[in-house]
Amino acid sequence: MRPRVALSLALSAALLLSLGWQARDLATTTTRPRAELADAAALLRRARAKPLAAAASPLASPRPPPPPAPPSPPFPSGQCEQARLSVQTAIAQQPAPERGALWANVQSSLAQAERESATVRRLLADGMRFEGEEAARGQWGELPPPRPPNASMDELLCHVPRGGHAWLAFGNAGVSEMIFNWAFHAARLGVGWRMVVAAFDAELLDGLRARRIPAYNYTGALPATHFRHAPYLFHRMGFLKAELIVHVLRTGRHALVSDSDVVWVRSPEPLLEALLSSGATVAASTDCLDARSDEDKTTRRTSAYMCGHNPGNEVASDVVFNTGVVWFKADESAISFAREWALGTLSLTDPFSDDQGVFNRLLVRDFFPVRRHSADGRVVRGRGSLRIAPLPARHFCSGHMVWVQQASQPRDCLSVHATFTEFGDAGKKWRLLEAGLWGLHHPRYYSSGQFLTFLPPPPGADPQPCAPGEGEYVAGSTPQPCGGEDPRHGLPRVPRGVPILGREAYARSARLRANMALMSRQVHALRDALAIARVLNRTLILPHFDCLCDRSEDIQLIPSCIHHGAPPAMRVPFKCSQHFVADTHKLQLMAVSPSSFGMQPHKFGGAYTAPLPLRAHSFLDDPRTAPEIKAGVVDVSVGQPSPSPTDPSLPKGATNVDVLRRLQPWQDARVLRLSDARGAFSGWETNHEQASSASRRAESAISCASRAFSLTVSSWCLQARLFSTMMEYYLLRGAWCCSSRGNGNEDGRVYPTEPPALKIPPRWL
Ligand SMILES: *[C@@H]1O[C@H](CO)[C@@H](O)[C@H](O)[C@H]1NC(C)=O
Ligand SMILES: *[C@@H]1O[C@H](CO)[C@@H](O)[C@H](O)[C@H]1NC(C)=O
Ligand SMILES: *[C@@H]1O[C@H](CO)[C@@H](O)[C@H](O)[C@H]1NC(C)=O
Repeated sequence: MRPRVALSLALSAALLLSLGWQARDLATTTTRPRAELADAAALLRRARAKPLAAAASPLASPRPPPPPAPPSPPFPSGQCEQARLSVQTAIAQQPAPERGALWANVQSSLAQAERESATVRRLLADGMRFEGEEAARGQWGELPPPRPPNASMDELLCHVPRGGHAWLAFGNAGVSEMIFNWAFHAARLGVGWRMVVAAFDAELLDGLRARRIPAYNYTGALPATHFRHAPYLFHRMGFLKAELIVHVLRTGRHALVSDSDVVWVRSPEPLLEALLSSGATVAASTDCLDARSDEDKTTRRTSAYMCGHNPGNEVASDVVFNTGVVWFKADESAISFAREWALGTLSLTDPFSDDQGVFNRLLVRDFFPVRRHSADGRVVRGRGSLRIAPLPARHFCSGHMVWVQQASQPRDCLSVHATFTEFGDAGKKWRLLEAGLWGLHHPRYYSSGQFLTFLPPPPGADPQPCAPGEGEYVAGSTPQPCGGEDPRHGLPRVPRGVPILGREAYARSARLRANMALMSRQVHALRDALAIARVLNRTLILPHFDCLCDRSEDIQLIPSCIHHGAPPAMRVPFKCSQHFVADTHKLQLMAVSPSSFGMQPHKFGGAYTAPLPLRAHSFLDDPRTAPEIKAGVVDVSVGQPSPSPTDPSLPKGATNVDVLRRLQPWQDARVLRLSDARGAFSGWETNHEQASSASRRAESAISCASRAFSLTVSSWCLQARLFSTMMEYYLLRGAWCCSSRGNGNEDGRVYPTEPPALKIPPRWL
């Protein structure tokens, strides 16, 4: 193996591990209650599905800025009795954690967990304004006057009429930014007076109070950092969440609860009212990916995978309720269900299960075959007097619905839950940015700076489409996968559930092969655009890339390249997240603090790598982006004659010197847009004009290609080396499909081809 690949591999593995994700577990973040019991990886998968999960770097990093002092009037500290009792119960009644690696010690130490937590928060806080003052001034939308920290749930909900809906979220300081983003969007919808966030620790409580976000003092049982290293704390958290729902229901308000990685786009209250009048007592979002199958209430034995909650359905493994969004009616049956959920979660002794697993198990008891309660089939029968409303997939959107099926547009979504993504909160933040659903950036983020962007490589046509009529939705039927399979592969059928290794996946799926060729072109284009951005010192706005294959390690992905359960006739190619091209968390680390991981200055003779800032593809369409930027796009023809000789152009394979010289007249343009970036840059050459005679004398003997970095090496020479190393660390080696790596090797993955190496000046002179 070539050394540079080894380097990059080592970094990928180290990053993944240090970011809190086991390298072998890169599947999407859906949670399946059945698999969960059987599969150790499910814990980690679940951990990623939850923003409470950790991520990180081995380096100490600065803590996010401290929140300002809590707003006046000053209140005495305190905690209401009900919260205190639940906290006490959580600690007193939970079975004592056993010793053992998987129970309480997945990560090596608490210190490690704290460092990881801090790194993720740094990625999340990037570009963030100090938004407390704006929230306090009411710029987020109306927020109620502050209440004392010992306010009871009834007091906090005094603006919600009995029989109305309380909007709840919960979390600890590890997910502060996610929670603030949640609250920002809720306040913008005008429900600031009807929302409450339960804070599991003092740091988050202070942060919420500083922003005037109504906060429930729920501290005392959980730490401020991410706690995925200790499953029993997860169980404790699940208990407290279910108890929180009970606290709300006892006040006579219905409870609408969401995870912090949910964004409310529109109010679901009219829909909830309709379900309520159809008899619903509990509602929950699902991992269903096929909106048509979900909406079809024809009585039938099976629906699409993960949509098996429809009348007549009888396959338990097809049902996946997701507790990311749940709603409870303020009545006795819902209260006793929430109590049962709470206690069931607290008494878990299986480190691989969690509150969502318990929720699913309780909900599907005596559930099959699914019986309709309302005539329209939208409310179905649960055990006893429970009446369950699976929340419509089209409106309570999964990440897949938005980022894969809808080109990152929320469209008909009321809520968007950042599921079906990878790389924890960092990955989720980037997806939310792509969908225009991150509300915490400083206004400067949208108004200052100079940018570079490029048109992405064309994807080509679907190499193996579904046959005409195949995959079309037919009411009352079960969707079947189609397309993708290479009719010539000659391989035997794969029994269901058997892992497919990369090489075989490649042989089976024409779509996968075409996609990997496309990814290789895109990575090449991205690398060259990043280089030109570095040379011009501009911020790169990523294009909206295309894909011919879903990115997942769900082995059912092959050969169709459409996620198991998603509409089989999904259009291919489709617009996809940047993450499908290169690992999001690595690009974010590169954009925020490359020197803190991998690129530490001591490895480069003390040389420091400046961050390479990025914007998501939606930046130029974002309503917040300054009109001068949107109107200031200058097109640069690459490798073709420009429409007029006075327009900017670049030859293919330009060097740093070419780029600077040819684009100099447009140095003030706000945005330069390359017509094509793949192969646009070939590397660095020495700019003799720039060299001072003194530095020439001092450095003439130093080889740029030498790995013995020295600060005395010329700036271009150093920049060339640093850039190439940074690409190895942060851009290359993004993996695709088909099963997690086994036995520490990579046989389950396929990788794009690396672009040709960039030229590095042979010698300073
Ligand atoms: C929240 O409750 C805890 C536990 O009772 C208490 O120690 C703390 O002071 C309270 N926080 C505030 C801001 O009052
Ligand atoms: C909060 O504390 C004040 C005294 O500091 C007390 O009068 C009030 O009853 C308490 N509220 C609750 C809900 O416990
Ligand atoms: C690059 O641009 C930033 C502002 O966008 C500026 O602060 C920095 O000094 C520039 N760096 C160089 C080397 O010109």
